[in-house]
Amino acid sequence: MNIVILAAGQGKRMKSALPKVLQTLAGKPLLQHVLTTALSLQGKQAKTGPIIVVGHGAADVKEFLVNASKEDSGFRKVTTVLQAEQKGTGHALLQALSKLDVQEPTLVLYGDVPLTSKKTLAKLAKLADGIRGQDSALALLTQDLTNPTGYGRIVRDADGSVREIVEEKDATSEQKAIKEINTGIMVLPTNSLKKWLKALSSSNSQSEYYLTDVIAMAVTAGVPIRTTQADEEFETIGVNSRDQLASLERTHQLSIANQLMDAGVSLADPARIDVRGTLECGTDVFIDVGCVFEGCVTLAAGTKIGPYCVIRNSVIGKNVSIHAFSHIDGAKVGNQSLIGPYARLRLGADLANDVHIGNFVEVKNSKIAANSKANHLAYVGDSIVGSRVNIGAGTITCNYDGVNKHQTIIEDDVFIGSDTQLVAPVRVGRGATLGAGTTLTKDAPPNQLTVSRVKQISLPWERPVKQEKKIAVKKTTTKKAVAKKIIKGKK
Ligand code: UD1
Ligand code: MG
Repeated sequence: MNIVILAAGQGKRMKSALPKVLQTLAGKPLLQHVLTTALSLQGKQAKTGPIIVVGHGAADVKEFLVNASKEDSGFRKVTTVLQAEQKGTGHALLQALSKLDVQEPTLVLYGDVPLTSKKTLAKLAKLADGIRGQDSALALLTQDLTNPTGYGRIVRDADGSVREIVEEKDATSEQKAIKEINTGIMVLPTNSLKKWLKALSSSNSQSEYYLTDVIAMAVTAGVPIRTTQADEEFETIGVNSRDQLASLERTHQLSIANQLMDAGVSLADPARIDVRGTLECGTDVFIDVGCVFEGCVTLAAGTKIGPYCVIRNSVIGKNVSIHAFSHIDGAKVGNQSLIGPYARLRLGADLANDVHIGNFVEVKNSKIAANSKANHLAYVGDSIVGSRVNIGAGTITCNYDGVNKHQTIIEDDVFIGSDTQLVAPVRVGRGATLGAGTTLTKDAPPNQLTVSRVKQISLPWERPVKQEKKIAVKKTTTKKAVAKKIIKGKK
């Protein structure tokens, strides 16, 4: 099946410098949602991928495709055609005609209708099924909406058969009352489509070549028109304005929240979670309010995520507690670990089981072995930390000399006193203790106390005393004095 995605429109109603199809829903451009579904519908074996009609912001859309291809090789199959001037959806499809295989039907998708499921599209394609090489039926995806404002309406004859699609701007008040709308998604017989597109006219209120006008042409040509609807209304919602985008985002997030709860996850409030990617959870995971999950995140069984955490591309083990306001990106957290509140785990933070990372502790590109702790105000970067290590409050690994990054190695059972600086490259031997306030510039031997500290001295000292400031009393003229003045004046 040919698949064409119309994505050339400007999206004037968004009032944005970004082409509409690159606006994001659940962290991904609208077009990426549509493309991912189209590619999975075609299957890996398909030789040619979807054709995207680009126009407004074509360079940005192409750049997005190049970047997306780096992450998902499927995107390399996508081809683009240019619609230099945006003269309507029919005109847009016309630009792709030469690329279509006439032996196959053509599925038209809109770059601004992001959430149509593969199941719904497969159902629609089946409806249009015909014999290969012969023109078959035309299948339309429609939807009954309580508020159909803005959409094209499906006009049916008394016997229920589709007669035409009328755009909102061209509709009579009677037609505007129709609740069944055109989702824009349709499967068309390609041979006939070629003829129909060339015969389109732009004599309508928007002076555009409407793709929707081919429906009346199909009726005239005697091509059967079949319709079906999606299981979920949100599958057919188009995004034309920022409020529609925000409302579809919430609907989408609520549907993800429901899927998570169905799979055994507890959510403090299903209306207050954002999943911008994939979130895989074991049983009895609890997620408090306001959490954001980006990229691929895994939370193993029994893990609890406190309020307002942001977790991106990370793997969290079993029975982990991540307390409020923690930020975790590109990290691995072992079972039973305690993280936060206010912890930051950055790329390459790899924590074994039972590790405690407390408030205002940042860990980057570091391996921390089991049962080690950094409970308060520390920076651990480019380090290898052994087991049962205690990193005191205010400890910093000085890993960067302004040009290069250097490694710190802290062996098992080390105790690091508060406010210590480890100037990398440096190694702390097994069982060593570093005295509070140490600036470690050389390796610390195992099992000894190493301390670098200026000797404490006490001097006689008279603390300067603050002079008390005299408070200037402003003379206020009392009523009595005023009266006296007046009397004197009279004399
Ligand atoms: C269109 C349909 C309407 C339907 C609605 C569903 C037409 C005439 N109208 O209206 O019946 O109810 O979608 O969401 O088809 N595009 C181009 N080139 C153009 C114009 C548009 O590629 O010259 C692309 C846009 O990028 C967008 C899609 O086509 O992805 C739909 O265009 P849009 O302007 O949003 O049409 P609607 O007014 O929503
Ligand atoms: Mg639209």
